[in-house]
Amino acid sequence: PTIGIVIPAAGRGTRAGQGCQKAYRRIGGDTVLNRVLKLFRSWNTNCPIVIVHHGDDTSLLEASIDRDSNVYTTTGGVERQASVLQGLRFLCSLPKSPSHVFIHDAARPFASHRLLNDVLESLIEQPSTGVIPAIAVSDTLKKSDSNGLIKATVPRDGLFRAQTPQAFILQTILHLHEMAATSTSSYTDDASLLEEAGLPVRIVQGDSQNIKLTYSYDFKEGERLLLANSP
Ligand code: CTP
Ligand code: MG
Repeated sequence: PTIGIVIPAAGRGTRAGQGCQKAYRRIGGDTVLNRVLKLFRSWNTNCPIVIVHHGDDTSLLEASIDRDSNVYTTTGGVERQASVLQGLRFLCSLPKSPSHVFIHDAARPFASHRLLNDVLESLIEQPSTGVIPAIAVSDTLKKSDSNGLIKATVPRDGLFRAQTPQAFILQTILHLHEMAATSTSSYTDDASLLEEAGLPVRIVQGDSQNIKLTYSYDFKEGERLLLANSP
């Protein structure tokens, strides 16, 4: 397969607070978004990379990344889903558009080459099957009512926490996103669209370090990870 990368980075980072959108915050001296860019560029030297950003962030974006000639930027939408669609459309419009796409949240700068290789390997084995990294749930799961009273313990067998990058045939995921944009359903990841269409999606072992920077606390955890991994 030939690979393109779509990086949704157009969110507002409301839960992280701090005033500055999280993709442009620095962690260990580099911006979150540039870490993601370097992760993919050091893995695949010339695949097209499309960054989807918020229209208000253009100058912040330019100040935050080291661009090369195969890094593109386009503006996103109000929901993640709309941003991903814009990125996929852009990737498809390139003269040499790739066969497959990795969709990876800007908010996960600690993904590893091991993880990208595992996703790619699974994709090569079965090119028409979507692939996502995920981690089996290890906590005991409780379901509660709105007063915080437990109603049930949910069996955790077969339950996973989904991560990105998620990989798909570009034309398939673009088509499903185009369809989803005309409906009222909303999705928090891209694999959900294949699942709903009855198309197969395979899980590969996720990485516990591949955390999503969501809350302020996650940035502290990220700093700790960088320190622990530095030579
Ligand atoms: N995202 C996007 N466009 C949106 C919303 C989200 O491209 N309209 C991106 C975010 O930039 C992030 C990823 O999707 O890289 C995952 O979203 P999330 O972690 O929820 O980030 P935010 O939406 O920015 O944060 P919050 O929900 O706290 O506002
Ligand atoms: Mg969000």
